[in-house]
Amino acid sequence: MSLLFEPIQIRGQIIRNRLFVSPMCQYSATGGDGIPTNWHMVHLGSRAVGGAGLVMFEATAVSPEGRITPQDLGLWADEHVQGFAKIAEFITEQGSTPAIQLAHAGRKSSHDVPWAGNANLDNKTGGWRPVAPSQIPYDERSSIPHELGIHEIEKLKRSFGEAARRAVDAGIKVIELHFAHGYLICEFMSPLSNTRTDEYGGNFINRIRLPREIVDTVRKTIPDNMPLFVRLSCTEYVEGGWGIEDSVLLANELKQNGVDLIDCSSGGNSPDQRMEIYPGYQVGFAEQIRSATGVLTGAVGLITDPHQAESILVSGQSDVILMGREMLRNPYWPLYAEHTLDASNRGWSNQYLRAAPN
Ligand SMILES: Cc1cc2nc3c(=O)[nH]c(=O)nc-3n(C[C@H](O)[C@H](O)[C@H](O)COP(=O)(O)O)c2cc1C
Repeated sequence: MSLLFEPIQIRGQIIRNRLFVSPMCQYSATGGDGIPTNWHMVHLGSRAVGGAGLVMFEATAVSPEGRITPQDLGLWADEHVQGFAKIAEFITEQGSTPAIQLAHAGRKSSHDVPWAGNANLDNKTGGWRPVAPSQIPYDERSSIPHELGIHEIEKLKRSFGEAARRAVDAGIKVIELHFAHGYLICEFMSPLSNTRTDEYGGNFINRIRLPREIVDTVRKTIPDNMPLFVRLSCTEYVEGGWGIEDSVLLANELKQNGVDLIDCSSGGNSPDQRMEIYPGYQVGFAEQIRSATGVLTGAVGLITDPHQAESILVSGQSDVILMGREMLRNPYWPLYAEHTLDASNRGWSNQYLRAAPN
């Protein structure tokens, strides 16, 4: 039997295989209220039918101004719970594990959806003023963000905790905190986007204070047996910026604070980043963090072949595989991968069994 299709237990949660659907923004909360629509049910539901071990809701904002676009998902109010619960229930019924990525987009918030051109939105065009650790815009076209005050940081931490509680109420079984891709928490971690002089800026310990405190808040809110993941940009690919050594140190801290798995991504905090993209381009980060800290890691990024995925696990580079675009191209990818690796059709739903390969 392949390792990819061997179940994995993280805290109290048994996940049927190690192939997870990576969080992917759909910008399809068309009511502009953060509430999931039919699109999310079909999109996430079909990937659960497709055999993935875990299906993760996209970056879901913990407050309205934490959305990348007005069409992002959000969990900032109790009225949101029901819409998530229906989808989580369907994913669970398919034998998959529903997860959610909780996020705040920071200085990269308030944009139009990508297919409408991605423009910055302001108060007049349906947007809002982004917030950030410091008044440093992402690039020359971005608006200058509002620097968060201490009381606003306190409120932000509570927002993460409350959103996590709502996710639990919705029947979601795994929470991932989005500390990557140049969004708010990642902005606090990098010396390039955080020039604060209070306890949340300056040296490394101060710059990782917010992610640590958010982890503490969320860990205290969710059940002990519920897994908690963190997605990191393991490097920002800019001289003098956040690097893999920082990620190793942070991963170690977070592990001690109750984080179970580091989902190893990279980049996104600077338009000056210089990165090379090739199959498995981020796997080395997962390997380094795993071997240095002993925390579970997830590998993501241009993993598209069953044997490639299996060999990443077998060689001990990561504990799980997350897949993004390939899962958009083919939601049934896990079913075919299982057949390729194990000549087995265990993941097929009864309704589709007559179509399973021989
Ligand atoms: C349409 C789309 C939306 C995405 N949205 C998110 C997101 O909400 N949160 C996140 O952490 N990454 C997001 N990503 C990044 C993916 O989760 C993944 O890390 C990246 O695409 C690399 O994996 P892949 O080569 O398998 O696609 C998104 C990627 C795509 C293609």
